[in-house]
Parts: sequence; structure tokens; C-alpha cells
Amino acid sequence: MHPIYMDHHATTPLDPRVLDAMMPYLTHEFGNASSRTHPWGWRAEEAVDAARQQVAAALNCRPDEVVFTGGATESNNLAIKGVAAAYRDRGKNHIVTAKVEHSAVLEPCQALERQGFAVTYVDVDRFGVVDPDEVRAAITDETALISVIWAHNEIGTIQPLAELGRIADETGAVLHTDGVQAFAKYDSDVEKLGVDLMALSAHKIYGPKGVGALYIRKRRPRIRIQPQIEGGGQERKLRSGTLNVPGIVGLGKAAELYGECRDEERERVGALRDRLRDTLLDRVGYIHLNGHPIERLYNSLNVSFEFVESESLLMTLRDIALSSGSACTSASLESSSALLATGMDDSLAHSAVRFGLGRGNTVEEVDAVASAVIDAVARQRELSPLYEMKRRGVDVMASE
Ligand SMILES: Cc1ncc(COP(=O)(O)O)c(C=O)c1O
Repeated sequence: MHPIYMDHHATTPLDPRVLDAMMPYLTHEFGNASSRTHPWGWRAEEAVDAARQQVAAALNCRPDEVVFTGGATESNNLAIKGVAAAYRDRGKNHIVTAKVEHSAVLEPCQALERQGFAVTYVDVDRFGVVDPDEVRAAITDETALISVIWAHNEIGTIQPLAELGRIADETGAVLHTDGVQAFAKYDSDVEKLGVDLMALSAHKIYGPKGVGALYIRKRRPRIRIQPQIEGGGQERKLRSGTLNVPGIVGLGKAAELYGECRDEERERVGALRDRLRDTLLDRVGYIHLNGHPIERLYNSLNVSFEFVESESLLMTLRDIALSSGSACTSASLESSSALLATGMDDSLAHSAVRFGLGRGNTVEEVDAVASAVIDAVARQRELSPLYEMKRRGVDVMASE
């Protein structure tokens, strides 16, 4: 079996068409987009402008509402810390976010708490969904910002952003979303979604690593942001630093490509994910589906195999790239905080495996992954005394 990559929530391969678009800017078109006095600079600036339009088209916003950054971690930091700093002088020092957020949102919120901001972390239900009423109830006169992830990187759950957008409108709070996993894959029209700020990243949509953007609403209402990186004043002073022209061109191209293939890809990759899910649910006992069964990313499957420790399972499947949680936390053996936030117990959280399907996966790969995982789960369970007792009908809890 050839190695199979099924970890597309962590990152995606560069689409060859994206590389082709970037290539001139990695070679002979090396100009600095801020150089105003010669053609190298002008051509670099033109390329950045074109990419800005491509990203703006995906967001249905104006090009000047797109700020290029070094990735979504930076975009989230700029959104959260930038709004907090800009609104503080209006007596707004409160943020509402969710317990399931990515560390790129949780950590900036915790940093702000250390500076005296108040942060409310709202709960989620067993599918990982935020309750808009709970968000509304958490809002006070001092709330500057609501930050809720659009689609979850581990459990795939999609949040009711439009409802949160209405709450933000009614209360005057700014709505930010970490849009990384859904941007471009889903209709990312910021008017329909009702968001004021959105973080996105190129390497999750078959673009290059180290480049992303923040959408910042400029009208109705105009959102104020205090820059977090100061220097040469690029990106209308919101993000100083020489622009990563090839990366930005790649982000623009990757976003544009989704515009052309979004529905087809959703159908095809969604069918592959369903096939994998149905095979596993059919053929493996004591299996739990994590995240929302319907309101979830079409390329995402997360299941817990009872009596199996997912880290050990993945070690036996070295030719298949899967994950037990988010790549950012997979260096630690702590349970996923997102799974625990859904009310799952620690041992089931330790049994969770994430399958992230993508553009290049095939039916043959799905079937190969399913059968390899089914065999590996069976082998792990053979080593589990708890599983053996369960199989023999011994009540484990009663015998303790
Ligand atoms: C939901 C989410 N937010 C933020 C990030 C960070 O993005 P980046 O790698 O562009 O900094 C990731 C991916 O790692 C993610 O999945």
C-alpha cells in the first residue's frame, strides 16, 4: 500500500496550479511590493492587488477589507488583541468566546485576561455547538468582541454564525470568526455569514504555508483595529512588514480555484467521507461519532474507538497520515480540550481519531484506510483486558 495522506485539517499539499501562479514571484519577479520607483516593485504590487481581489471575491467584500498576514494564528491575534486595544478606551473590556476554540484564539484571550480583560468562555453541547442564547446572555455593556470558530478543526462541527451575527448586530459587539477550516470550501460571503472579522490561512486550502489574511469590515459598521506589528506601515498600517508576494499570490490563486470547484469537490469529497464513516460504523463495534452528525465539515470524520488508545493505534498505522487531535497539540498527550468540552469522558477522548479527507483522496484510498484501521483496532483490542471482559459480559464497573 502506498502512503496515504488523510490529515487535511493539519495542512494540505500545494496545488500544482497554485505553484505555477507563484513561480514567477519566487524567481525573476522578486520585487518588493512597496518599491514605487521601478517596474519590479510595480509588478509585485500588481500581483498583490490581483490576489487581494481574488480573496475579496471569495469573501464578497471590498479588496481594501483584506489584510494579508503570516497565517491564521497571526490573523486571530490581530483580530482579538487589535479589537481589545481599540475598544478599551470606550470602556469595553469584555470578550465572549467558546470553550472549543483553537489555541490561536484561546491563547490571545488568556493573554488579554492577564492584562485585565474579562473573558467569558461559553459551553458547547454534546456535538460541540455553541448555544446563541448563551452567547447573548453573556454579553454586557462592556463586551467588545464575540469570537467563535466557524468550523472546528478537530470535531468538524459548524457553528451557527449567522445567528451570532444577528446577536452582534443587536448588541453592538464585534463578531470575529476563526474561519480557517471552512474558508473557500464553503460559501464565505461575509454578508450572509454576518461576521465583522474573519481569519483565514492559505495552507488549509492547497496554498502555501506562512501566509493568511484577516477580513476587517470597513462599513456598517466600520471595525477599529489597533495594529499589533508596527514598522514600515504596509497593509494600511495594520500589518507592517515586507509583503510575502509569492505567498500572497498563492493564497489568491488557491481561493480562486475553490470558486471554480467548490460544489463538485464538496460532493466528491463528502461522498468519500460518508463511505469511510459508513464502513467504520458498520464493521467496528463500540465506536462513537464525535462532533455534529450533520452540521459538520464535509471532509471531516472524528470517531472514538472504545478500548483503544488512539496514539498507540496511530503508531501502528505509520503509512497512513491521521491524527488524534489538532496538529498544534498532538505533541502533548493531553486529551483534546474540545472533546472534553463536549462532555466526553477522558478515556473516550483518548480514543479519538480524526480523518481529514481532501482533494487528492480516492475511493481506493478510503477503502484501504478503512480496512487498515479496522484491522488495527481489532489488534489493539486483543491486548485490552477491559475489552475482553466486556466481550465476556463481565460488568467492569461492578467488579471494581
Ligand atoms: C481552526 C484553526 N485556527 C488556526 C489555525 C492556525 O493557522 P496557521 O497555521 O495559518 O497559523 C489552524 C491550523 O493550524 C486551525 O485549524
